[in-house]
Amino acid sequence: MSTGKHESYWIETSAFQNYEKLQEDTETEVCVVGGGIAGITTAYLLTKKGYKVTLIEALKLGHGTTGYTTAKLTAQHDLIYDQLISKFGEETARIHYEAAMETIDFVRETEKELQADFQLSVEPAYVFTDEEKNVRKIEKEWNAYKKLGIPGALEDEMPLPVSVQKAVRMENQAQFHPLRFLQAMTAYISSHGGRIYEDTRAETIEEGELATVKLKDGGSVTAKHVVIATHFPFYDFKGAYFARLEVARSYIVAGKSPLAYPGGMYISIDSPSRSVRSAQDENGDTIWLIGGEGHRTGKGSSMKEHYSNLRNWGHSEFDIGEYEYNWSSEDFMSLDQLFYIGRITKRTQNLYVATAFRKWGMSGGITAAKEITSLIEKGKSLYNDIYDPARQDALKGIGSLAKNMVEVGKELVSGKLEKTEKTIEELDRGEAGKIRQNGKLIGIYKDNEGTVHKVDTTCTHMGCEVHWNDAETTWDCPCHGSRFRASGEVIEGPAVKDLKKVD
Ligand code: FES
Repeated sequence: MSTGKHESYWIETSAFQNYEKLQEDTETEVCVVGGGIAGITTAYLLTKKGYKVTLIEALKLGHGTTGYTTAKLTAQHDLIYDQLISKFGEETARIHYEAAMETIDFVRETEKELQADFQLSVEPAYVFTDEEKNVRKIEKEWNAYKKLGIPGALEDEMPLPVSVQKAVRMENQAQFHPLRFLQAMTAYISSHGGRIYEDTRAETIEEGELATVKLKDGGSVTAKHVVIATHFPFYDFKGAYFARLEVARSYIVAGKSPLAYPGGMYISIDSPSRSVRSAQDENGDTIWLIGGEGHRTGKGSSMKEHYSNLRNWGHSEFDIGEYEYNWSSEDFMSLDQLFYIGRITKRTQNLYVATAFRKWGMSGGITAAKEITSLIEKGKSLYNDIYDPARQDALKGIGSLAKNMVEVGKELVSGKLEKTEKTIEELDRGEAGKIRQNGKLIGIYKDNEGTVHKVDTTCTHMGCEVHWNDAETTWDCPCHGSRFRASGEVIEGPAVKDLKKVD
């Protein structure tokens, strides 16, 4: 079975123009930090309304989580409606459903307005189980659909040829090409006076009536409003988010099957989970996207195994022999399942955050953009404040809060006691390991040319021990999901500083 290129299908099939790096002091009306779906859609909506917007991205536009998603645009966020009804009541659950459904209309209208092709297709979405112990959960979710009037059905079978005991179907969901969507919006922003910068990492914020975003490599952006759409907020505002976000990594492989794709989008609630959708390539051939194998970032042994598990599953279920693409992404979860979108704290009126989209960043990101635009323009929530980050979610998610804090606490202590296995000489090319030097753990990566990269494996965010990810060749932090290149440069925050290089 071939394993293909190590790149995302979305990235391979899109072409963003390059934007320059910002290293000067500048002023603007709204500064959006983060060039993924939440940030770019916010910048697009505000530009359309006549605001002066400056968007900064630490890497390349669309190369964060948005470029590594399954790109399902759906209100079927796993099993959620039964839980939302019992935690918050029917009204909140209904608002959440309607907000997500509106994102499908939004993409459709934007496609028309910008005269672009986002490969949007309407499909039913299924969440299913093949395990007896999970059947009741599916039935309860269907009861929640009925209470909320969500169109769908409870099924014993699905069009996808996999074994299933029970599934719940949601009608009129959608899938699309997320980066074509971002590309069209960025072209609009730059041609309507908005400024976009890449390779521009925000390091901190000086709060005030005019807030100043300080940049890592010098320069700053001073703005009336600052929107933090960086996945995990790079600036924590006194610890509000670190205990309230759980981080998980999951994987996708993509290839062609001799079977005809039966339509639909699928996700299982069994363990390990599986997700399936299709996409059409440039030649009109169908690519099968197989996802799953989620786990807490930085945990587990070989990450390569997750890819091979997915490839084996796709091969045995759908006879996929060749995989052209494989990629992985990181997702953040709130304590109570609802997104965090809005003013970052009650005290700060001009700083906004958008995060915790779980695995549903397409609908979450667009919902965030609409909500933050409304807060900036009208000072009012579009969604009855259900996503307000300052809500008392710790009470609704006390179990998750405790579990998360225990996990982080464990990592802070046990990571430092980690055993080392190989010496530098024993490492093969392309292999990484840890050694102890003066009692300190040092991460060693021997690249394919034999050059050795040594870094201090203490995460520069809050001091947890980073772990090697052999599939992406990165150092990943299990505490809050920061990721670093083998040579130590930060890829994803919340960390903003590189791992210390060691001589
Ligand atoms: Fe927070 Fe590493 S300690 S991301």
